[in-house]
Amino acid sequence: MSTLPDSREYRTGSDPRTLRDALGCFATGVTVVTCLDADGNPCGLTANSFTSVSLDPPLLLVCIHKNATCAVPLIEAGHFAVNVLQTGQQPASITFSTRVEDRFGQTPWSAGEMGAPVLAGSLSIFECARNAVHEGGDHWILVGEVKKATFEAGLDPLLYFRGSYRRLHFD
Ligand SMILES: Cc1cc2nc3c(=O)[nH]c(=O)nc-3n(C[C@H](O)[C@H](O)[C@H](O)COP(=O)(O)O)c2cc1C
Repeated sequence: MSTLPDSREYRTGSDPRTLRDALGCFATGVTVVTCLDADGNPCGLTANSFTSVSLDPPLLLVCIHKNATCAVPLIEAGHFAVNVLQTGQQPASITFSTRVEDRFGQTPWSAGEMGAPVLAGSLSIFECARNAVHEGGDHWILVGEVKKATFEAGLDPLLYFRGSYRRLHFD
C-alpha cells in the first residue's frame, strides 16, 4: 500500500522521537496533579496522561514519570488532586512542567478537602484517594478513587496537540 507524502512510521528500535510524534497526534486536555509530601509541602506536575477508568467505583488514572521530583510523594500520598486546566491557566501548565523554584508561589491555590492542593480557577477538580499504583515502564500508573469532583460549566479547556498548546476553535 502506498503512503501519503507526509506519513511517517515508527517500529521497535526506531527513533523514540518518532513514537512521541505519533503519540502527540492524540489531542488531550492538560492537568496539574498535586499532593502534599511527607513534610506537608505542596507538590505537583503538569500531566496530560489523565484518563477516566471506571464509573462504579469512580476511578481515574494518571501516569507519572518515575524520575519526576514529585513521583514518590504522589505514589505515597493517601490523597491527590487532578486539576483540569482551562485556557487561562496556560501559565500554570508551564510553571508545573518546567524548572521553577516555587511552583505554588506562582499559582493561586488552596488546600482541598482531603489536603491536596487545588488550583484556583480550574475547569474541573478531582480530589482522589489513592486506589492503586502500577508499574508502567518508566512511569507509575497512579489510580485514584474520586471522592469529590467540581467543575465550571462555562469555561473552555486548555488543550495539547502535537507538542503545542491549543484551544477549541468551534462553538
Ligand atoms: C502538556 C504536558 C503534559 C505532560 N504530561 C506528563 C505526564 O502525563 N506525566 C509525566 O510524568 N510528565 C508529564 N509532563 C512532563 C512534566 O510536567 C515535567 O517533566 C515536570 O517538570 C516533571 O516534574 P519535575 O520537574 O518536578 O521533576 C508533561 C508536560 C507537559 C508540558
